[in-house]
Amino acid sequence: MIGGHGGNIYHLARIHGCRPSDICDMSANVNPLGPMPDLMDHLAENLPVITALPEVDAGSMIAAFARQNAIDPQTVMAGNGSTQLIYRIPRALGSRRAIVVGPTYADYHDACVMHGVACEHLICREADDFVPDTERIREAAAGADLVFLCNPNNPTGAMADREAITDLCRALPETVFVIDESYLPFVPQPETISMIRSELPNVLVLNSMSKAFRIPGLRIGFVKAPPPLMTKLAAYALPWSVNSLAQAAVTWLMTHADAVDAFLSETRTLIAAEKPKAIARLHASTAIRCFPSATTFILMRLPAGLDAPTVWQQMADQRILVRDCANFQGLSDAFIRISLKNLAENQRAIDLLVDLCRRHENKGAAHAG
Ligand SMILES: Cc1ncc(COP(=O)(O)O)c(C=O)c1O
Repeated sequence: MIGGHGGNIYHLARIHGCRPSDICDMSANVNPLGPMPDLMDHLAENLPVITALPEVDAGSMIAAFARQNAIDPQTVMAGNGSTQLIYRIPRALGSRRAIVVGPTYADYHDACVMHGVACEHLICREADDFVPDTERIREAAAGADLVFLCNPNNPTGAMADREAITDLCRALPETVFVIDESYLPFVPQPETISMIRSELPNVLVLNSMSKAFRIPGLRIGFVKAPPPLMTKLAAYALPWSVNSLAQAAVTWLMTHADAVDAFLSETRTLIAAEKPKAIARLHASTAIRCFPSATTFILMRLPAGLDAPTVWQQMADQRILVRDCANFQGLSDAFIRISLKNLAENQRAIDLLVDLCRRHENKGAAHAG
């Protein structure tokens, strides 16, 4: 689906008559530190690679990714963002009935619809902070041949542990589970959660370079699949799906492990400092409810009577883009999501949200009085 995503800085910049880079985009869930400066330098130096065709199957880049993750390169495929792979999966696997564990990223559903696959949503409970209940998933997925589970999940930030996911996948061996780990690098000790080294024959793992490395414009994603499923996916692979600059970026990232580890560790430290501060301030000063998040964005339920389009507009007037969550199945216009940025930007956005809620409350009090 082309519409319905966050990150539309181009639209807001047109309204304000400013540059897209003048918009504070808290709607896109990308690394608050920005991209790695050394990676950007490397890409600038390697710009001439775009004058030749890239490797048709991105083989060298895949080999580097597989080596770094200690997995077999034959089990890895790359795509033009993980989105391209999401759309390939239901078609290539010939799925008939899918379950999407939500509220979540809309493209799993849209990929199923595009390929005529019946798709149902299993909505996690708000009372459980949207943490997936694997027992409910097991019941709902019996008879389905495909399940999408985003871990940690967008937009809720909720996460299931590896043991629970493994038990679930084992319990339904005829069902293929797609575990989307696009946001896992933001979580402390991601290697204790990741399913990428799972040997289970019915588990696909999605990985995106867009979020953690803040290079969404390069469009790079991976899927790791057991060999029989990889054969099916490979039948739908497109030549030159990953451009030359993107291949150069991944090869650099996968061969600079120390720098990458330091960067991701700094990212997690920033999130660990900024997230509780933002949540504490909102909880102390407003009736906004923030849901616990394992990652870099926060889902919020707005105070009664205040709706997401109003908040979106008032923040947009200040050139801040937040995510109106009304179009996530299982949520409504009572929800927004913000993705953390740097200290000053977070503070400004939270100040505005507090101010907006206070004005809303005062208006309510004036009406009551
Ligand atoms: C959960 C999830 N998976 C995958 C994607 C797609 O990422 P990309 O296509 O840039 O790899 C997104 C983008 O927002 C997402 O939120």
